Amino acid sequence: MKTIEPTDAIQQSLRDAPQVDLSWIQPAPTADGWTLAPDALRFVTKIVEVLRPHHILELGSGLSTRLLSRAAGPLSPKCVISSVDHDPQFNWGSGGAAIEEGGAKVKFHLAPLVVREFGGKLLGAYLIQPEKLATKRPADLVIVDGPPVNLGGREGTLYQIMDFARPGTLVLLDDSKRPEERAAIKAWEENLGDAVTIRQLPGFGKGMASIVINRPVPTKEFWHHRFELSKAEIEQIVPEGQSLLIAGDNWWGRELGTSRPLLPFMEKDGAYWGEPTDDAAAIAELDRQAARGTHFMAFGWPTFWWLGHYKQLAAELARRGKKVLDNDRLVLFDLRP
Ligand SMILES: C[S@@+](CC[C@H](N)C(=O)[O-])C[C@H]1O[C@@H](n2cnc3c(N)ncnc32)[C@H](O)[C@@H]1O
Repeated sequence: MKTIEPTDAIQQSLRDAPQVDLSWIQPAPTADGWTLAPDALRFVTKIVEVLRPHHILELGSGLSTRLLSRAAGPLSPKCVISSVDHDPQFNWGSGGAAIEEGGAKVKFHLAPLVVREFGGKLLGAYLIQPEKLATKRPADLVIVDGPPVNLGGREGTLYQIMDFARPGTLVLLDDSKRPEERAAIKAWEENLGDAVTIRQLPGFGKGMASIVINRPVPTKEFWHHRFELSKAEIEQIVPEGQSLLIAGDNWWGRELGTSRPLLPFMEKDGAYWGEPTDDAAAIAELDRQAARGTHFMAFGWPTFWWLGHYKQLAAELARRGKKVLDNDRLVLFDLRP
């Protein structure tokens, strides 16, 4: 059978989802509970029919698991479902049996929520043991409906999914209109760049975002990936031969691998001279460096706190120049007169 591109599958499913019958769900699902809302349940049913995945990975078990099993049951070649949850009460520990009559096989994986580092960010994540998933093959479709925001939220999930994805894996993020999910989407866009294509889909009460993974960025490469993006952004703005101040110890700058000459801030004889004692010291150093012809200053994420702590320095940078980049990895000021 011909495979369908994720974007075409989305279009077709958006069009046909309103016809999906949910009357088999009793009591009837509502839009204000913990489960996927009816509009999302219809869309997810349709996308399974249209995309014909071999492996579905679900983060956040529940009614959606039954629905996935049911929708994937008739698929041939067979589809298997890995359903991950942190809470024994909602991860139905059924030993991997099919849960719907005629439904696709579901392998439940009870995975604690832990804190892990993703490319220098500490985030909540499921402790997924790959051998506990339904299959070793990458996921074709991923449904992200957990963890709850009070337990760390969903930003970590896309980074960790990368280890179970292939080019073209389609990820659906439920509740994508909420501020926390919007923040996660913004961070994904800023940290993954064109490795993903993210879209808020129309017509969902609580929001539904699609994330097509164009190129998986494995967790072990994510650190390097974040620096590569930062380097490219810097080199687009800072002309060749112009030097750049890097707030804090120069390790962050060295990691960029840029050809632009870097100066740590504070600096003495080319070496890092420690954090400024106060705003006045920081501004005096800025003056000294400007007099030497250095007109760009970067803050990597480890020194973002400076911009809150050295308030007068931050105001002075904004007064003298322009904040030309401000994302999850990098803040860059262009201070050219
Ligand atoms: C949004 S829910 C996932 C719902 C699931 N995808 C569904 O459609 O039924 C996210 C997580 O919250 C937890 N959860 C679900 N119902 C809950 C409840 N009534 N009280 C507390 N936690 C709940 C579960 O661990 C679940 O994985």
